[in-house]
Amino acid sequence: MTESIKLIAGNWKMNGVGESLEEAAALRVSLDAEAANCRVALCPPATLIERMSATVGGSAIEVGGQDCHAAASGAFTGSVSAEMLADAGANLVILGHSERRTGFGETNADVAAKVEAALAAGLEPIICVGETLEQREAGEAVAVVSEQVMQSLPQSLSCNAFAVAYEPVWAIGTGLTPTLEQIEEVHVAVRAAIVARLGAGGEKAPILYGGSVKPSNAKEILNVKEVGGALVGGASLKAEDFLGIIRAV
Ligand code: PGA
Repeated sequence: MTESIKLIAGNWKMNGVGESLEEAAALRVSLDAEAANCRVALCPPATLIERMSATVGGSAIEVGGQDCHAAASGAFTGSVSAEMLADAGANLVILGHSERRTGFGETNADVAAKVEAALAAGLEPIICVGETLEQREAGEAVAVVSEQVMQSLPQSLSCNAFAVAYEPVWAIGTGLTPTLEQIEEVHVAVRAAIVARLGAGGEKAPILYGGSVKPSNAKEILNVKEVGGALVGGASLKAEDFLGIIRAV
């Protein structure tokens, strides 16, 4: 069982312009008044990282990117490096989200290379794994997710801060969630895979659950064995919803 403090991270995906920072400002006001019982992070689009950092600077809210390139710099039009995210104020970065694995063809090896880049820039990676509905129905969820963990986590992680996020692809943005037993089964398997890969260095990293987390289901999910936090998409866009999840810790 993880001893780490829980991490509640909001993934804004490709949502948000300058005025959306009002939600981050509102969250900040609330968390300045009532300290959260967990770490809290917001991962806006890259264009907002610097302004988000200014908005929440000096508060307990951390800022993360949603992806980075594996290279430190160079001729990669349209891409953002880990160093650029750090320079803009991020201390975290989501890597290997299923929307990048499916939509942009990212492999486990690509994700592992990005993790190395994130570590080199001093960022804490949140490495996402998760099975498709087809794989779940074929009884392959544990095997698929364990394999993703083994292949996406480079050995260099063991002395660094990082998190893994288990996000069943079929639960993302659908309102569907696995049963608590299914969440526990996969989280326990993820822990075993992290430790198999990294040894003792993998015993404490938080394993977040992601996929349709909302204020009404957060408490029961966060109480499941080996659930070390949540990666929240839709419900992180509004301060009030995100606060409802933070308060469930
Ligand atoms: P969701 O997204 O909370 O909207 O299901 C989660 C995620 O994709 O990280």
